Amino acid sequence: MSDGLYERAAAAAERAYAPYSNYLVGAAVLARDGRVFEGVNVENAAYPLGVCGEKSAYVAAVTAGYKPGDFDLIVINASPCGGCRQWHVEFKVDRVVFANNDGELVEYTADELLPDTFVL
Ligand code: THU
Repeated sequence: MSDGLYERAAAAAERAYAPYSNYLVGAAVLARDGRVFEGVNVENAAYPLGVCGEKSAYVAAVTAGYKPGDFDLIVINASPCGGCRQWHVEFKVDRVVFANNDGELVEYTADELLPDTFVL
């Protein structure tokens, strides 16, 4: 289900900067050409300025030249927040796999996680 990426996401989470919540999030996004980009949550003393692990992963991929539609799968070691679900839709990722609140690895489409999504 996770194509071995869960281990990458969990290992990345160890590098998260989350001194305020102590909630360590790691994500690994797999592009269709096989490249993998990792991301972690990065917090800030001004709390709303923090960024989620999934966003960091997509930002790393975009920085390397990737675009919406280029992604097969993203794997996260935590259940994605509402804002990150909107990011999964934006980047048109085919599959979203994450450890849910019971610790089970589950898989959804972005549309299942955020149906009837806002688009421009
Ligand atoms: N967090 C993520 O990185 N991704 C999510 O989808 C849920 C929440 C982070 C944000 C914050 O640094 C910490 O988890 C606690 O909310």
